[in-house]
Amino acid sequence: MSAILELTQISKRFGGLAAVQDLSFAVQPGRITTLIGGNGAGKTTVFNLITGYLAPDAGEIRFQGERIDGLAPHKIARTGISRGFQELRLFNRLSTLDNVQAAIPAQKGESIWRAIWGGKPLQDEAQATEARSREIIGDLTLSHQVDTLAERLSYGQQKLLALGRLVAAQGDFLLLDEPTSGLSPAMVDDFCDRMKALVASGRTILLIEHNVEIVMRLSDWVIVLHQGGKIAEGVPDEVKRNESVMHTYLGLGA
Ligand SMILES: Nc1ncnc2c1ncn2[C@@H]1O[C@H](COP(=O)(O)OP(=O)(O)OP(=O)(O)O)[C@@H](O)[C@H]1O
Ligand SMILES: [Mg+2]
Repeated sequence: MSAILELTQISKRFGGLAAVQDLSFAVQPGRITTLIGGNGAGKTTVFNLITGYLAPDAGEIRFQGERIDGLAPHKIARTGISRGFQELRLFNRLSTLDNVQAAIPAQKGESIWRAIWGGKPLQDEAQATEARSREIIGDLTLSHQVDTLAERLSYGQQKLLALGRLVAAQGDFLLLDEPTSGLSPAMVDDFCDRMKALVASGRTILLIEHNVEIVMRLSDWVIVLHQGGKIAEGVPDEVKRNESVMHTYLGLGA
């Protein structure tokens, strides 16, 4: 199987700090690949490099065979890469419905002339966007909160809404930065089921996750980062058996 995403010898420095160093890895389509590593290991920086928020100092990033490193974030988003943020980035003063609607890419309405002249196609699109948003919100079990401001939702509901915005963005390649952090065990199970369902529906997930039990449960492939470099990768069992990784770098015990 050929990789859908490939990083080749990627490096990124912040002043004197090498946040990512000579990092190469590949992501297979239709799988959950998980990046693990301690605080400051470089995981979020890798997401910023893949999504164009940062340009690498060296190396190449290919998505579906095409170079994407150095492209602007909105161009990368258009290739089908959608990203969730560690800090959620919801519109706190907008409702659940508006948060999801805002994440759905504009189609016809994007044209300035249609926006000015309006007319039926624009109305149809607005209706379709709202219907799709309500469907996503229903799937999140948040229908009863459709008009609630995002800031009024519980933390778990906010995490669900952030996931809904990711689905609404319509990418097939999803980057999720600690989607289960701070959730109750029942909500963690729910999120795991949702991630499995996303992959079953043909998406690919690149995940950042701290909880080893979740990593083992969900991942098809695990990549371990330390000080910006890759120190191990493999199927979950293999990584778990690597004692030096589990003890020295994660301090978690196998
Ligand atoms: N914009 C930036 N400017 C300067 N230094 C940065 C910047 N972004 C990240 N860093 C530094 O780069 C290193 C890697 O940070 P990164 O956020 O990628 O780590 P992480 O693995 O996501 O950690 P965490 O598990 O805490 O989220 C850290 O030392 C961090 O302080
Ligand atoms: Mg991070």
